[in-house]
Amino acid sequence: MIDLRSDTVTKPTEAMLGAMQSATFGDDSRDGDATVQQLEALGAAKVGKQAGVFVPSGTMSNLVAMLAHANRGGELVAEATSHIFNSELGGVSTLAGMYYRGLPGARGAMDLDELRAHTRARMTANKQGTSLVWVETTHNAAGGAVLPLTHMSEAKAIAHEQGVPVHIDGARIFNAAAALGVDAKEVCSHADTVSFCISKGLSAPVGSLICGSHDFIERARGFRRMVGGNMRQAGPIAAAGIVALENMVARLPEDHRTAKRLAVGLHRIDARIVDPAAVETNLVRVSVGVSGRKAADCSAALKQRGIMVSPCAAWDLRFVTHRHIGDAEVDQAISAFAAVWENK
Ligand SMILES: Cc1ncc(COP(=O)(O)O)c(C=O)c1O
Repeated sequence: MIDLRSDTVTKPTEAMLGAMQSATFGDDSRDGDATVQQLEALGAAKVGKQAGVFVPSGTMSNLVAMLAHANRGGELVAEATSHIFNSELGGVSTLAGMYYRGLPGARGAMDLDELRAHTRARMTANKQGTSLVWVETTHNAAGGAVLPLTHMSEAKAIAHEQGVPVHIDGARIFNAAAALGVDAKEVCSHADTVSFCISKGLSAPVGSLICGSHDFIERARGFRRMVGGNMRQAGPIAAAGIVALENMVARLPEDHRTAKRLAVGLHRIDARIVDPAAVETNLVRVSVGVSGRKAADCSAALKQRGIMVSPCAAWDLRFVTHRHIGDAEVDQAISAFAAVWENK
């Protein structure tokens, strides 16, 4: 099978397995663990923040960041198709205790006039005060789109004018930086805090980091404990994360290249289903609805031909390229899609 459902399917590298074997086994919830601490310091340095905290998943990194920023109150403002709204089961309200407002946007970038209109320092007679402005880059539902740095800088200025902090859901922050051709530190300079995953295209088996100021991360550690995210002997998975950050960031442009090759191939089959110019990173969204066929049916037909993809909406498929996908796999996926499409 060729698995294009997500970059989370990547297996640890040989170097990761070696590092995991020689990792420390300290109790990170009691005395601390040296390998976890090394990963947290490295992660923070990579995104230009003072400190970091290791958590089990991207979803928990987002939840803990919300709790640490807002202390269960006020409103969170984000673009309406953000991952926190689409795929995190309402944790923003049920667990983080915030009212939320989804703003219209384009390619994952919220309308800044709307942001200005809906960001306020404190509660008024009939409006909630804003606790947190939230941005996502790369943007999952927008097909891996990258927020322009000018957009991020303006969003931050609007929020800070009202004394409101900004958080980046940067599950794939290093993909965003690679696509922009800048260091991740530069992307993250446009926010107070960031969460990112080592478990996606970077190939580590598990884990995410939240990074920000010393004070913020101390609060985040408390909330991590509260939601059950302390991991005890997490040294081995942190060791894989160190290898991910040190060795795997530089190869991400290769995933962007294969995604583009895939998009070009699919576009040749039917120009209506995907615009290769819109593919900026390793996600390719394909609108199969123009054929009148549902995404789930196309996905099932592709699976019969050895290609696994995700139906990410009723009429849209998502293909994700990663370390185990080279040109040969891309070309097989294109051929399988052509056969499925002919039988439409
Ligand atoms: C933008 C974004 N944020 C958060 C997450 C959640 O990560 P996890 O699946 O590790 O909880 C994802 C996962 O795909 C994501 O794409």
